[in-house]
Amino acid sequence: MLIKVLGSAAGGGFPQVNCNCRNCSGVRRGVPGLRARTQSSLAVSRDGAAWVLLNASPDLRQQLAATPGLAPHAEAGARSSPITAAVLTNGDVDHIAGLLSLREGLTFTLYASARVLGALSSNSVFDVLDRRLVPRVALPMGRATELARLGLVLEGFPVPGKVPLYLEDAAAGSSFGTREGDTLGLRVSDPATGTSFFYVPGCAAVDPALAERLKGAALVLFDGTLYTDDEMIAQGLSTKTGGRMGHISMSGRDGSIAAFQALDVKRRIFVHINNSNPVLCEESPERAEVEAAGWEVAFDGMEIRL
Ligand code: MLT
Ligand code: MN
Ligand code: ZN
Repeated sequence: MLIKVLGSAAGGGFPQVNCNCRNCSGVRRGVPGLRARTQSSLAVSRDGAAWVLLNASPDLRQQLAATPGLAPHAEAGARSSPITAAVLTNGDVDHIAGLLSLREGLTFTLYASARVLGALSSNSVFDVLDRRLVPRVALPMGRATELARLGLVLEGFPVPGKVPLYLEDAAAGSSFGTREGDTLGLRVSDPATGTSFFYVPGCAAVDPALAERLKGAALVLFDGTLYTDDEMIAQGLSTKTGGRMGHISMSGRDGSIAAFQALDVKRRIFVHINNSNPVLCEESPERAEVEAAGWEVAFDGMEIRL
């Protein structure tokens, strides 16, 4: 399997249009150790000919332009694309807005939870994706689905998370109306080689069910939004903690680094990294710390072969 990180940043990207935080202003000034990143998405293939997108970010057009393997193949017809499927892990804007760049008559299958498909159906702008060309398939939770033409098998499973910001129900108390299926983790496997990996770009906590699933995995690409739960508050960027946004932090007793310590995951890579996160700076002590704990920090264009 070939995995390409199309975009490694969280919603807003890096730098974010309205953000003057230390990282964003630094990357604009060309400070060494910082590099720009687009919003959260992966592309996966087993043969390099057909590809599945895992999330469709608002930066998709730019990401595809930067990735020659995802352009129409030279010998293909007048209109074609090697993208044959797209899978959504939630309904957040950073993971769905790129669908609007896949109109123009592309043919692919769209997979998501029934909850996320419901959010798309209730927003008529997504009807630009003609359902005859882009069938929408509800992923059965915890069961394998064969990805036609790709030779890959996909499994989606619910993980702790939060309903998208634009669907939050203030009257629903601390859950904001979150239900099962609002946030998924994915397992992608190649039956021909027996390889597989997990992709969990949004996750509020590593609960026992998730820990059990990830135990012994060869590769996990995991939510790296924040380093500390209150970093956006401390930097004067927001009034929200990571917990309020549905994201576990890297550090701390309840953080992802600690949670993975007993899981024996061979390769651990942070994705969906917010622009406030100090690990974005390659020279930072926080970056040294996550690397010392055995984690990698994804960057746009990163390639992984399994
Ligand atoms: C998130 O991951 O928390 C969301 O993408 C935030 C947003 O909507 O920008
Ligand atoms: Mn996001
Ligand atoms: Zn910023």
